Amino acid sequence: MPQPPVHNDLNEYDPTLPETFESEYAKFDELRARCPVAHSTAFDGFWAITRYDDIMGILMDPGTYITSVRNVVPGSSTTGRRPPLHLNPPDHTPYRRAIDRALGGRRVAMIEPATRRFAASLMRDLVARGEADFIEHFASPLPAQVFGEWMGLSPAQIDVLWATSKAYVKAWEAFDKSSVAAAAEGLARMAAEVIQERRREPRDPLMDPTSSLLAERDDNGEPFPDVLLAGCVRQVLVVGLVAPPIVMGSIAVHLSRDQALQQQLRENPQQIPDAIEEFLRLYTPYRGFARSARHEVDLHGRRIQPGEAIALIYASANRDESIFPKPGEFQLNRPNIKQHLAFGRGPHMCAGIPLARQQLAIALEELLRQTSHFEVSGEVRMSGMPELGPICVPLRMTP
Ligand code: HEM
Repeated sequence: MPQPPVHNDLNEYDPTLPETFESEYAKFDELRARCPVAHSTAFDGFWAITRYDDIMGILMDPGTYITSVRNVVPGSSTTGRRPPLHLNPPDHTPYRRAIDRALGGRRVAMIEPATRRFAASLMRDLVARGEADFIEHFASPLPAQVFGEWMGLSPAQIDVLWATSKAYVKAWEAFDKSSVAAAAEGLARMAAEVIQERRREPRDPLMDPTSSLLAERDDNGEPFPDVLLAGCVRQVLVVGLVAPPIVMGSIAVHLSRDQALQQQLRENPQQIPDAIEEFLRLYTPYRGFARSARHEVDLHGRRIQPGEAIALIYASANRDESIFPKPGEFQLNRPNIKQHLAFGRGPHMCAGIPLARQQLAIALEELLRQTSHFEVSGEVRMSGMPELGPICVPLRMTP
């Protein structure tokens, strides 16, 4: 029987070209319409899946599509395994259980007052500057402070975490593998330090993720192996710091362009949580995570080999017109907004959703509360894959 051709030399999606705030969405529209399983030669080669239904099919079939070989593009296969993202169910489940336990409703509610304090103080300093980079002075330090609160880090550790995670993201953007390795080493050192501290003085597992991981047992009743425990804390340390600044930056740009909406939300802060959900759909900060197939699969006639990286472009799925009518428009209270994939789906769906939603809402509340007007005042610089969105948003603010 004739075999369909292999297309691995084709470059149908190139995420290495310069990007603007809008450029990628037009490319995704084109790919969804004409080439829903596109091959890219960038980053050692990967497949880009752009339609909502195809992505959901993959996410909900973890028996075929696994994260233990490739879970992100670009990605390095040389770094150690970091649960929960790098493990497949059922090995993944005890790690996830331990993290979820420390992210319960009561814990997230306890973090709220601190988040409000941090946001109010950072925003006061930002507005006092009159004009400044919104990301550097607000959207990036806020998640580090919130995260430090959740992880029970000291102020000195929070400073190191913030600096190291920024260096990590920057190194990935430049695809500078030696800087990635150096920053990863810094994060691993911090993970080891936190584990040592919690072994010495355990905290309540409902309050502290590291203590929860130390208290958890795998399916054989054993504590987690040291190397995977360290990998997990290292994963947890960075996973919640990357996306929030980017989506906050996108929101600031959107509301600069739509002053009527800016004013509407300022006057109706009760609409902010719903607005955040629609912003997450419109400006999905993780362009997509990846999977690889356990065996050869055929998707829309493209034969994908085991081990090849399959990037699930969540940012494209969230603008799929067959699911979200007029997908490029901001619509408060879309009836099916819960279907958005900004947090993924399936066994690896984001563990930090309540914490993320809470800090995004508080961040936007503070921005609107402490200003009567703001607008972009310079060049917006964009991140590269795997993120999608701004990393520098110069903002002019009027108190
Ligand atoms: C705007 C904010 C955030 C967004 C958009 C986001 C998005 C995501 C996405 C899309 C995934 C799924 C990865 C996949 O499909 O392979 C994920 C996983 C994860 N996220 Fe988030 N995230 C955010 C904030 C956070 C925060 C604040 C935390 C921690 C407190 C967190 C913890 C995690 C963890 C632990 C995983 C791995 C889950 C697993 O493998 O079982 N995230 N996140």
